[in-house]
Formats: sequence, C-alpha cells, structure tokens
Amino acid sequence: MKLSVTDAAARIRTRNEGAAALAYVKVFGCQQNEADGERLRGMLADMGYRFTDEPNLADVVILNTCAVRLHAEQRALGHLGAIGHDGGPPGQVVAVCGCMAQLASARETLKRSYRHVRLVFGPGDLHRFPELLHDALTQSGRHFHGNPPDVPLDWEEGLPVLRAPPANAEGRAFVTVMKGCDNYCAYCVVPYTRGRERSRSPEAVIAEVRGLIAEGYTEFTLLGQNVNSYRPADGESVADFPDLLAALVSLEGNFSLRFMTSHPKDASDKLFQTMGRHPKIAPFLHLPAQSGSDKVLTAMNRGYTREHFIALTQRARAAIPGLNLTSDILVGFPGETEADFEDTLSLLETVRFNSLFTFIYSPRPGTPAAGLEDDTPMKVKKARFQRLLDAQKRIES
Ligand code: SAH
Ligand code: SF4
Ligand code: F3S
Repeated sequence: MKLSVTDAAARIRTRNEGAAALAYVKVFGCQQNEADGERLRGMLADMGYRFTDEPNLADVVILNTCAVRLHAEQRALGHLGAIGHDGGPPGQVVAVCGCMAQLASARETLKRSYRHVRLVFGPGDLHRFPELLHDALTQSGRHFHGNPPDVPLDWEEGLPVLRAPPANAEGRAFVTVMKGCDNYCAYCVVPYTRGRERSRSPEAVIAEVRGLIAEGYTEFTLLGQNVNSYRPADGESVADFPDLLAALVSLEGNFSLRFMTSHPKDASDKLFQTMGRHPKIAPFLHLPAQSGSDKVLTAMNRGYTREHFIALTQRARAAIPGLNLTSDILVGFPGETEADFEDTLSLLETVRFNSLFTFIYSPRPGTPAAGLEDDTPMKVKKARFQRLLDAQKRIES
C-alpha cells in the first residue's frame, strides 16, 4: 500500500517518539539549494528528528548536492566517501538529493561506487521526502527516484521550513518565488536538473513575507534562477516580477528586499525604475554577463549582445541611485580565443562592476556545449582566470 506524504510523516514521527533520532543535512551549491535545505530540515523536524553536525551519529544523512561544475560534484562525492568510511548507527539511511541526483551520469556513479547511499531523489521530488524516507526506513534495498525534469510540476505550498532564527541569521531569510529554468545556456546543467520554469503564486509569496516580518526577519532575498521571467497565472493580482516587488514593499514594517538572479535578456526598465523608486528594495543587482564577446555570447545561447548588456547596465545605474552591480564571468568556453577574452576584459573596464564572481568552464554531461571540443588548455584557462581577477582587483581599488 502506498502511503500519502502526510501519513508517511506521521508514521516516522511515531517511530521517533522517545527515540532521540538524529539527522544530518549538508547543502552544496546555490541559494536555491540552501532554501531547499531549510525545507528538508523543516520536514525532518516535523518528523521528530533533532539535528547533529556529525554524520556518523545521524540516523538520517542527507546531502543536497550541486552539479553546476565538476568540482561541485567532486566535493559532494568526497564528503559521501568520508561518510561511508566512518559508518553510522545501525539502520542509518544515507540520502542524496539536489541537482546531482537528477543527472544520469551522477546517478550512475552513486549506484556503482557509493553503495552505502540508500536513497536518491531529485529536486522535483523534494515535497515527497517523508514518503521516500519511509520507504527507505522500512524496506531493504536502494531507492532511486527521479522525476523527469521536463514534466512541469505543481508548486508545493505548505512544506514546513526550518530557518535559522532571525537573531542568528542577521534577520535574513530566503523566499523562493520561482523554480526551474527555460533558458538552456549551452554550458549549463540547471534546466535539466531543475526542470521547467514555474512561478509561485504572488499571494503565497506575500503571505510568507508577511509572516516572516511578524517573526522578526528584516531582509528578504527572493530566489529564482531567473526572477525576471516570473509569470504568475492569468488573473493573479500581479503580472510580473516588478509588480511583485511593488506589492511586497507595500507591506508594513522595517525590512529590505533583494533578489537573485536576474537574466540580462529579461531585465527591464520597469524593474530598474521599481528598484529606484522604493527605498525598501536594496540597490543591489546581480546581472551575470558571462562573456564580453558577441561570438561567445551567441555560442552560449545567452540571448543578448555585448552592446545590449552595456546599455542595460547604464540604464540600471541611471535609474537606481548608489547601485551595487555584480556579475558572473565564465572563462574558457569552447572556442573562446584570446581576442574573445580581451573583449571580456574590456567589458569589465567599461562596466566597472562592484564585484565579480569568476568561473572556469567545466563541461557538463548532457548540455549542448559538452558536444563541443573543450579546446582551451587548462593552463590558458587558469591564466585567463587570473587576469580576470587582477583586472577586477584594479577596478575595485
Ligand atoms: N541562473 C543564474 C546562474 C546559475 S549558475 C544565471 O543565469 O545567472 C551560476 C553561475 O555558474 C553562472 O552564472 C555561470 O557563470 C556559472 N556556470 C554555470 N554553468 C557552468 C559550467 N558548466 N562551468 C563553469 N561555470 C558555470
Ligand atoms: Fe543556467 Fe542559463 Fe538558466 Fe542561468 S539562465 S540557470 S546560466 S541555463
Ligand atoms: Fe547547483 Fe543546482 Fe543550484 S546545479 S547552482 S544547486 S540549481
């Protein structure tokens, strides 16, 4: 008989009564994964688990993983290896979820070489965690789940969330507004691991923020892979992301809002004007450029040109007083020549970001770019990476 999520949670709660059951949760990757980690902790607390920082003491170990670069996968596997080596209490369930759990190549590795992993489920199955855990606790064998990420999944409201209390988190809280990504940048694994874009209802977002203000939180980061494509269903009270921001700032209380991430192809003047007009929206904009070369931007499928990007940053700075503008740059994309890279350096000099996050291209299985020849030697990639850091250091000094 298949149990509902609520029944599964209730049964685990009964099992744990008086048993001092412990859980260990480790999160890798982006803020979305952090927010999902808060939901995992919320569900675990609801099922009667307390938390430990020592995986070898935990009855349930969960790694919420990231697959954006090979290094992220290696870190999670290294941690898993150590957990397997140290062992745990009898009946311990070691679970892997997050983006690696949705990637065929990583699932194979887990199946073959990490045999102590008993439960694997992707981001699309997060809300089913109590049910999946119940199966793993009560049935022998290994449990590999994975919702095909192309199936649009309903938004699951009402999951318990366990955040750090306001006093320990400097008043900061994450609030998810959309999930998934439809942009298919040629290098990026996220559309395959997180599936199609889905926007959360504005009423649910507003109600969550209102509740968090009442609990004493004062700084909210609205999360989505591309918040600019936030599109609630027809007939909802707000139509797009700037409208959602405007609705949130009208809530009573002393708080500020920021958001991650804005895709440059969808960032609008309406967004900048809304930011400039409302003191409760922090003058902080993360606008990932990735490259300053039109040829590379096209190959990456980014959907904008260098000229469009520069003009966008000028309009943002004009509309938002004291704007703190940050960006991501990816070096060594297949086919990136010295001249392309110099275009990126000159973009940095032109835009003068307040700070920069830099990455060396890492081929990801299943992405279009993985089929291109990774033709820049690592030595050259590393040298370019260092030149980016040096250029940004000069700009910031
Ligand atoms: N949705 C966000 C990006 C999420 S991934 C956006 O579009 O801005 C965060 C950053 O990781 C990206 O901006 C990119 O610079 C980097 N990244 C993504 N895939 C990568 C890969 N295959 N190799 C190296 N860096 C990558
Ligand atoms: Fe990846 Fe591009 Fe989507 Fe960002 S917008 S998550 S880089 S595919
Ligand atoms: Fe990593 Fe998945 Fe976030 S790949 S960056 S955890 S969306």
